[in-house]
Amino acid sequence: FHEVHEIVVQKLGHIPIVKGDFAHLPNKVQRFVAAWVQECRPRAVYICDGSDEEAHEIIHKLEERGLLHKLRKYEECYICRTDPADVARVESKTFVTTEDKYDSVAHVREGVQGIMGQWMSPELMEVEMNNRFPGCMAGRCMYIIPFSMGPIGSPLSKIGVQLTDSNYVLLCMRIMTRVSPKVWEVLGDNEFVRCVHSMGCPRPVQRKVINHWPCNPEKILIAHFPEIREICSYGSGYGGNSLLGKKCFALRIAMNIARDEGWLAEHMLIMGITEEKTGRETFIAAAFPSACGKTNLAMLNPTIPGFKVRVVGDDIAWMRFDENGELYGINPEAGFFGVAPGTNMKTNPNAMLTCLKNSIFTNVGETADGGFYWEGLEDEVDKNIAITTWLGENWRIGQPGKAAHPNARFTCPAGQCPIIHPKWEDPKGVPISAIIFGGRRPVGVPLVYEAFSWEHGVTVGACVKSEATAAAEHVGKQIMHDPMAMRPFMGYNFGKYLGHWLSLNKAPHKVPKIFHVNWFRLNEKGQFLWPGFGDNIRVLDWVIRRVHEEESIAVKSPIGWLPKKGSINMDGLGPVDWNELFSLPKHYWEDDIRESRRFLEDQANGDVPPAIWKELDELEKRVKEG
Ligand code: GDP
Ligand code: PGA
Ligand code: MN
Ligand code: MN
Repeated sequence: FHEVHEIVVQKLGHIPIVKGDFAHLPNKVQRFVAAWVQECRPRAVYICDGSDEEAHEIIHKLEERGLLHKLRKYEECYICRTDPADVARVESKTFVTTEDKYDSVAHVREGVQGIMGQWMSPELMEVEMNNRFPGCMAGRCMYIIPFSMGPIGSPLSKIGVQLTDSNYVLLCMRIMTRVSPKVWEVLGDNEFVRCVHSMGCPRPVQRKVINHWPCNPEKILIAHFPEIREICSYGSGYGGNSLLGKKCFALRIAMNIARDEGWLAEHMLIMGITEEKTGRETFIAAAFPSACGKTNLAMLNPTIPGFKVRVVGDDIAWMRFDENGELYGINPEAGFFGVAPGTNMKTNPNAMLTCLKNSIFTNVGETADGGFYWEGLEDEVDKNIAITTWLGENWRIGQPGKAAHPNARFTCPAGQCPIIHPKWEDPKGVPISAIIFGGRRPVGVPLVYEAFSWEHGVTVGACVKSEATAAAEHVGKQIMHDPMAMRPFMGYNFGKYLGHWLSLNKAPHKVPKIFHVNWFRLNEKGQFLWPGFGDNIRVLDWVIRRVHEEESIAVKSPIGWLPKKGSINMDGLGPVDWNELFSLPKHYWEDDIRESRRFLEDQANGDVPPAIWKELDELEKRVKEG
């Protein structure tokens, strides 16, 4: 120990450690920090302790600089505007690097551009990294953040250490993960996920800093090294690119660990629904692509009596079969990083009530009385109040343009949610009885259906598609494939990932039922056929009854079990066109299956497990005959 310590101190050389006790960090962490200090050459090193004093110190600094601005209407809430060039995840600059290309990505058809993850060779990645990281923190402080994904010390949890030169990132990591010195104790000399993040804006700055938000959008690079459990992110401060515990660790790296250890790391919410009459509680996990309704569903406010909904997680689920074969899930995160626009006291009161204190609002508008504002809050603020948009312009409700960026976000502690589940931090997790897939499907796809089997359900998941949203850089509303809602988060070969899902159906595992939902089907006038939000409880009610084997409420269709007419509670709803909501246009489905088959052939040809082809063949046959 002594020898290693000496070397490390020498390597940190003249760079001061302005906070924390370096000598008491675990050895492996010392070496990790020392190596990156040498590479990034920060002005100082700051070891975070996760305390409130620390947060206040950082907030104060950021207020002085002008990056954060206090919203005086609430308690400890701050608004932040980014450089308008740094507002979303950047999928095109996200890579996985492994020795063997086909560990990272599937074999694609010749001439086809793979969209299920991107591989970069170790050699090229080294060049790209060398072109960015050396000296990238010059003149800035490097923060060392110890964090746990999942409750600290739980057997299902994993530890990471993030180095970053962004104090905004530090503040958000404190909300989204569990940052604490206890992490060092639990870690000891074990392995951890190595996370390195830089805004890519060393001093003196070369690039004009806009809104006091340093970044380097031209040179964004988000690199994953699953073999050594390392993540290096450069150039962006936006959440999905910079809060490395979230998408990079809890999905892309974790799914690699999950494959090796026989569990699942998925882009899923977890919620519990209690039927008040019997007290029976059913837990559901659901995967929808980014900005397609996970946060809203996870904390929905039921519009019909008799149900109590409680949220465990709104974005990521780690799930594992226990020794009795029951599937248990935890939420590895500690906060919600939610889409702001569309959120209001009608659509999602629980989210609104969660973010009235200790929260950070990014790229939203601000009202003259010190409140937040975004599209969807028209009826909840004074109609004539002066508003400053996310771009800093003066604006009023009714004028052209928007107050908030469509991907504006709130970052708030999950524990503040009025309906947070009492077991949300239970180390064992909660028992998952159903998995739901879904997406934005304007035509053809019914409100809900149930897969015939696990294998069929995995195929349904593999064929998930959705309209593009503002959560990443895609423009327009094109319908994109997004298998299991994981396309942007694929951390290894997509074909093998499907194989992993299929492999879970073995003794003693009791695999959950799989469903598909679509809140976004339109009528010919372009209006939603389904009211959505709190009314989605009506669909969950049907799902729960199916989970508990109620047979009389389902009818067989070519694509799966559909609700029998009248089996979904429509009491108190305006007119709902059941036939249109559940119709299965034959030509649409024939085309859709052909197109999905083509997608799988293009993107994962030889790697797609035979069981998926068999399911597609059978589906095609049923649709043709049906
Ligand atoms: P997430 O990114 O998957 O967590 O999605 P959110 O729950 O944040 O929702 C993203 C956007 O979809 C928001 O603007 C919501 O208002 C909207 N949304 C969510 N649920 C529904 C729904 O049931 N129906 C409709 N029409 N829109 C919804
Ligand atoms: P979301 O999370 O799924 O709630 O949109 C952020 C993201 O996926 O980018
Ligand atoms: Mn997400
Ligand atoms: Mn969300």
